[in-house]
Amino acid sequence: MYAQNAYSAPAGRSLASGTVDDDLILLNPGPACTSQRVKDALLRGDLCHREPEFGELLARLRADLPRALRLPGHEALLITGSGTSAMEMAVISSVRADRAVLVVNNGVYGERLLKIARANSITAYEVRPDGDDLTRWTTPIDPAAVQRALDEHDDVDAVACVHHETTTGLINPIKEIGALLGADQVFVIDAISGTGNEDQDLGEVGADIVCGTANKGLHGQPGISFILCSPKGVDRIQEVPARSLYLNAATYLAGQRKGDVPFTPAVQVCYALDEALQEYFEQGGFEGRTKLYRERAALVRAGFERLGLQVLVKKDVRSNSVTMIHLPDTVSYERLHDELKSRGYVIYAGQGHLSSQYFRICTMGHIPWDRLQELEDALAQSIKAARV
Ligand SMILES: Cc1ncc(COP(=O)(O)O)c(C=O)c1O
Repeated sequence: MYAQNAYSAPAGRSLASGTVDDDLILLNPGPACTSQRVKDALLRGDLCHREPEFGELLARLRADLPRALRLPGHEALLITGSGTSAMEMAVISSVRADRAVLVVNNGVYGERLLKIARANSITAYEVRPDGDDLTRWTTPIDPAAVQRALDEHDDVDAVACVHHETTTGLINPIKEIGALLGADQVFVIDAISGTGNEDQDLGEVGADIVCGTANKGLHGQPGISFILCSPKGVDRIQEVPARSLYLNAATYLAGQRKGDVPFTPAVQVCYALDEALQEYFEQGGFEGRTKLYRERAALVRAGFERLGLQVLVKKDVRSNSVTMIHLPDTVSYERLHDELKSRGYVIYAGQGHLSSQYFRICTMGHIPWDRLQELEDALAQSIKAARV
């Protein structure tokens, strides 16, 4: 049992040597803490991915992922790689030759979608909020601005948008944006930090290619990501030219339909995702997981309010998993991080131009409720100790 305020690595289990204490709660936006049964699943054994047992595992994952995200008509493609590999596969596999992508950009991950397009020589247009750096990253995208951009550029083949901008914990209006697309345009959504844990039911959004990852709201291990394609998305990925050997979606589609994977997969991480999905369904699926995340957000944010901490993003567009907090005056982030870590919690710095003034607390993953209840005290003590 974790003893409050007395956290230290037990003898022989030095944090520096790469082993960590099981009691350390990760409050970063993935990789998230996982349950013991998900960790145990990593040890199911060695398996050749050309054997029928892997084919069965792959088939189960390909059936369970769309079901978990309430996209029953979508087809799942599993990728061995981090979330960015799913983003890259989605962008390069959704735009036909001599056509363009329209990227909605109000944070680090919108920016990344844009960089992916440009790195692959795909024409990319950008929609982003006006204003200074802070405003740009704290304002949800206005669907009317997306409409204007679509009117202006008649070569847009795909619109790409981040659902939950993890940079700040902001939710974009993907349902409203999805409704603007023409019959020949596909909607690509980076749902990597929203998969299964944010309120938006992706089934209502008209998403053609949804990017997700195993190790955030689904509580699996890092190393596997995926895209989910609607029938229109499937048609599109079969039409576009191959722009990459490793990340060409059509290659994965052809192989995975036959139970095959084109490249060596992270087999054990697939076991863990399989277990995490069974756990997800047992705990109430989408409804159960989103309810849990709402309750967690309410619990920890009430504590932040009592401590007088200021949350950056407005309430109505705040996600249920990431809270961006203004660093109190005279508190050093590095010291706050270390103080909290000594009490058993890992927090996360702000990104880009927000890093000097803000930090993030994310309630993703398998986290015991009592440890979230104890967070307020740990935070209060750590802030006091981190004043310079
Ligand atoms: C919204 C979003 N997109 C993409 C990524 C990139 O994922 P990865 O770091 O696994 O490549 C992240 C990571 O936090 C994310 O939050």
